[in-house]
Amino acid sequence: MLTPHLTAFEFRQALGHFTTGVTVVTVEREPGKIHGMTANSFTSVSLDPMLILVCVDHRAKMLPLLEKKKRFGISVLRAGQEAISEYFAKSEQSAEAEERLSIRYRWTPGGIPVLENTLLQLSCQVTASHIAGDHSIFVGEVEEAEMHEGEPLLYFRGEYLRIARHS
Ligand SMILES: Cc1cc2nc3c(=O)[nH]c(=O)nc-3n(C[C@H](O)[C@H](O)[C@H](O)COP(=O)(O)O)c2cc1C
Repeated sequence: MLTPHLTAFEFRQALGHFTTGVTVVTVEREPGKIHGMTANSFTSVSLDPMLILVCVDHRAKMLPLLEKKKRFGISVLRAGQEAISEYFAKSEQSAEAEERLSIRYRWTPGGIPVLENTLLQLSCQVTASHIAGDHSIFVGEVEEAEMHEGEPLLYFRGEYLRIARHS
């Protein structure tokens, strides 16, 4: 389908054709308290230095937290963790909901919160941020990484999917 003059809806729909994994960005919002945000804009950027990026909506609660704290975790979700993705895509977060969803945090040796029981956990230091339209691009230098066995949660055309093997 050719759509020459895209509406915002069509633009979102078009970009949804690019399959991604799903991450949760985590920041310590006040001592011992964590705010998380679901993000699929996560991308690797550079090997030397080791940089990644994530794009954050200017309306997100996460934005001022990242600007202030400048340290964040990235947790790559596993297949089956759709409910965790949906939870961190809502602004309201509570200890009860986290208990119900078995969400557990871990503090990295460097003191950054990440989600336990995820495929990959990275701790990052913000090295640059750039305003790009209604989002800001946060570039993070990766300080620590913990990898686990398992398969990823995928996101395609607004739906959660998992890898299928044809052998
Ligand atoms: C699969 C998925 C991917 C998302 N990716 C992003 C993203 O990359 N950047 C972003 O700003 N919001 C993204 N969102 C929306 C935020 O998770 C959502 O707006 C959240 O409520 C904002 O967090 P906060 O206001 O609590 O900080 C995504 C949502 C979903 C379900």
